[in-house]
Amino acid sequence: MNKQIMIRSLPQGNLAHDNFELVQGEIPKAQTGQVVVRTILLSQDAANRAWMQGATYRDAIGAGEVMSSGGIGEVIETKSDKFKLGDLISADIGWQEYAAVNESSAAKIPDFDGPLTHAISLLGVAGKTAYHGLINVPGIHAGETLVVSAAAGSVGSIVGQIGKIKGARVVGIAGGKEKCDWLVQELGFDACLDYKDESAPLRHTIGKTIPEGVDVYFDNTGGDILQAALFAMKLKGRISCCGAVSMYDGKPKPGPFGIPGLLVTKRLRMEGFLVSDYSHLDADANHNLSQWAASGQLKVVEDVLQGIEAAPGGLIGLLAGENRGKRMIQVAPDPR
Ligand SMILES: NC(=O)c1ccc[n+]([C@@H]2O[C@H](COP(=O)([O-])OP(=O)(O)OC[C@H]3O[C@@H](n4cnc5c(N)ncnc54)[C@H](OP(=O)(O)O)[C@@H]3O)[C@@H](O)[C@H]2O)c1
Repeated sequence: MNKQIMIRSLPQGNLAHDNFELVQGEIPKAQTGQVVVRTILLSQDAANRAWMQGATYRDAIGAGEVMSSGGIGEVIETKSDKFKLGDLISADIGWQEYAAVNESSAAKIPDFDGPLTHAISLLGVAGKTAYHGLINVPGIHAGETLVVSAAAGSVGSIVGQIGKIKGARVVGIAGGKEKCDWLVQELGFDACLDYKDESAPLRHTIGKTIPEGVDVYFDNTGGDILQAALFAMKLKGRISCCGAVSMYDGKPKPGPFGIPGLLVTKRLRMEGFLVSDYSHLDADANHNLSQWAASGQLKVVEDVLQGIEAAPGGLIGLLAGENRGKRMIQVAPDPR
């Protein structure tokens, strides 16, 4: 049988367990141009929740469907010339133990040293988003001040570490003192601001911590944090718009004010990107990320939950800030 987690209903407020239901489906059969995979790992992404809000860079997802999710699967049946039995592929597998996948929307995982989890974290969307979104969007130079939000998350924790490797002063923004202490003590950030500390609001602490102004702000959150960062930017500062996790869950919230006024007066450059825009530079990203990890300059932080049943709670928890580094679900053991 094939354990699947379906979307029972789309959330009206915060995502909850009763938006999902576990069902027992059939193991699918491959059609021409398809493979059937056994799911090994599923990525958990803040964007999974955004897909429930409507069409974005991909189709919206809706009630009655298997919950969508990127992941890695092992080919157990093939009617594709592109993939053979035993290949490990990445694709939108969904929250299920077995999936039929079209060859056109799957890619073979290249051989690499290290655990398979790295294909989701360091060498997956998380690492590439951090790399391209920092290096190829705003760029970062030695001596500059870089601020990154959702700094203890999968993308943010890598962005901050790349900033340090490039010689920047790095200030993270994260929820809670423990996470902030961890970013400074374990990942080498220069400072971290707790945006949840009501006794020290971010709009005050950011200016006090960075009186010289922010050269580059890597925005994972949007909302109030982007608002605070906009006021703290240096003249001609650059903002890399990666995502808006503060807007994905719960009721709609107003965006920051000061756009375009602050962009004009401070001559800021604010640029959005999708990781796929830079796929032609993925080899560079993988090469540098692998080298930095191998030399110990970059710590790969993973948060691996066990079993398909953990997926709903894992995503709800990710949106609530439970995770450090890249959250994923190990559905079956690494077959390598
Ligand atoms: N542009 C692209 O191509 C691309 C690709 C991948 C991901 N992304 C974006 O990258 C960002 C990170 O996503 P991820 O999937 O890697 O998740 P993640 O950073 O591993 O986890 C999400 C983190 O967001 C923080 N958060 C949740 N609600 C928040 C709120 N209301 N305000 C501030 N912080 C909040 C939580 O940490 P705290 O404890 O600090 O609150 C949580 O740990 C998202 O915005 C995502 O959309 C963009």
